[in-house]
Amino acid sequence: MSKKPSNPNEPLPDLGTALGDKLQFSDDLQARMVAQLRLRESGIPPKYLGKDFENFLARDKVRRDLLAAAQGYVESFNLTDKTKYFGLFFQAPTGAGKTHLATAILKNVILKGYSGVYCNVPRLLELLRELMYDRAHYDERGFLARCETADLVVLDDIGTETVSGWVQDRLYLLVNRRYEDMGRTIVTTNCDEATLRERVGERVESRLIEMCNNRWVFPQEDYRMKMWGAPPTASRK
Ligand SMILES: Nc1ncnc2c1ncn2[C@@H]1O[C@H](COP(=O)(O)OP(=O)(O)OP(=O)(O)O)[C@@H](O)[C@H]1O
Ligand SMILES: [Mg+2]
Repeated sequence: MSKKPSNPNEPLPDLGTALGDKLQFSDDLQARMVAQLRLRESGIPPKYLGKDFENFLARDKVRRDLLAAAQGYVESFNLTDKTKYFGLFFQAPTGAGKTHLATAILKNVILKGYSGVYCNVPRLLELLRELMYDRAHYDERGFLARCETADLVVLDDIGTETVSGWVQDRLYLLVNRRYEDMGRTIVTTNCDEATLRERVGERVESRLIEMCNNRWVFPQEDYRMKMWGAPPTASRK
């Protein structure tokens, strides 16, 4: 991951729509600035910055329940009870809406004033490999630290590849730090538990299962296929 370090003097991207109604029109300039900075730092990819509860279509009961649970999670989000885990485990095939809902939760938790980080795990593993060869940029090390300590972290798409050796040990350190701190974590994966265990190792998998004790069942349907409209039909003259 040899991306350029970001320039701190760069103007903030226009996050108007990402801020949503809650802050977009707020007169509290300071609250808007803080939310903008936090959103920029969160690492939520541009595609998902515009994803929210409002554009998560819920025409069936399963999706309605998921949406209500996601909104409830944001409403009740707090850090006061450190005796229990409040993590979520999204397990479903590709295109089911896991990243959409996870980033919507993250964004709304950030808008409540908490810190949050979106972490795409395959990209994280690439970063860890760079670190192993001491090729990572300083801000990428900062990203890793934020993944360990943020109030809410989304570990998206875990289990896509088998990790071993140094990279697995480093992944363990990150997960274990959140485990020990009772950090709020949302995990998304395409894998069943056995495959996940095989890919990330049993110590990582076992901790994730305990931390993300609420498993949400998504529809087994690739939403991306819905966007592929019907083929054009030849018009009759
Ligand atoms: N219920 C929904 N309403 C509106 N858009 C949806 C819904 N479910 C999924 N989508 C859209 O479909 C696309 C795929 O969803 P998403 O990226 O969340 O899938 P995923 O479960 O994370 O898939 P993968 O396992 O491949 O990462 C996105 O553009 C997302 O916004
Ligand atoms: Mg996804």
